[in-house]
Amino acid sequence: MSEGKQFAVLGSPVEHSLSPVIHQHFAAQFGYDITYARQLLQRDTFEPFVRKFFAAGGVGLNVTLPFKLQANECARWHDVSAHQAAAANTLAMTDQGIGAWNTDGAGLVNDLRHRHGFEPGGKKILILGAGGATQGILGPILACRPASLALANRTLTKAQNLARNAQHLHPQCHISAFSLTELNERSGDFDLVINSTSLGLHDGRIMLPAEVVRNTFCYDLSYGASARFARWARDAGASSVADGLGMLVEQAALSFAIWLGDKPQTQQVYQLLVERTQHDG
Ligand code: ATR
Repeated sequence: MSEGKQFAVLGSPVEHSLSPVIHQHFAAQFGYDITYARQLLQRDTFEPFVRKFFAAGGVGLNVTLPFKLQANECARWHDVSAHQAAAANTLAMTDQGIGAWNTDGAGLVNDLRHRHGFEPGGKKILILGAGGATQGILGPILACRPASLALANRTLTKAQNLARNAQHLHPQCHISAFSLTELNERSGDFDLVINSTSLGLHDGRIMLPAEVVRNTFCYDLSYGASARFARWARDAGASSVADGLGMLVEQAALSFAIWLGDKPQTQQVYQLLVERTQHDG
């Protein structure tokens, strides 16, 4: 490895990852010479790659689907963000060995607060989905002390399990679990609806009652062509909608600060990516 500090994003698929563009932009703000690669891996090549990367002097890794659990498992120690989520999107070599962080949830909260002017504290929040993405954002959302949090999932038991664990850690917040079909009865109850399902990746119909999002701020963790929930919510009468591009940039800024100690400006690269994804979409 010869060209500056080495970074990479690991995933499958990974060829469309925007992380290299984002981090090159951040690095330019501080005059850093970095190389940031996309690395396609398989389940059995993930951990050997991570170990080899850091042994060769690599500085930091981002991890995307489907390796966030494996990334957490291969670390020697865990920041509270990775520990709570049981999944990591950021790895770095430290004096204590490979460390794991999860900046997804804090990135979402930063985007909500600073780009969209939405304070989650004291609000009634609904999260759709109870998979890995929900697990990643749950701790930081609850740390904002919302008035209530509802988790709705196609498979009710998964929402119930997440809600039970979260309630134990955050007794002050009223946390409930629903199946998607039960949402019919909860229309108009929420200040914020977050889509944390992977339904945007598939082509199926969105099986939600429009009343749930009417006159409500809706946030889709997906972005670009996959932000199907955001487009559906706009048509269904949401008061405003946001896709996950801002969260993507904010989680990257937090990773960058973990690796290099500098907190980059995010607005310019965010605008750049908005234009780019509009052209692509
Ligand atoms: P991720 O890591 O992206 O969260 P995951 O752990 O596989 O991926 O979770 C995907 C989530 O999207 C789940 O909550 C899933 O619902 P189930 O638990 O019932 O499977 C949800 N999901 C995926 N496709 C969906 C669809 N078409 N409609 C509603 N929910 C969907």
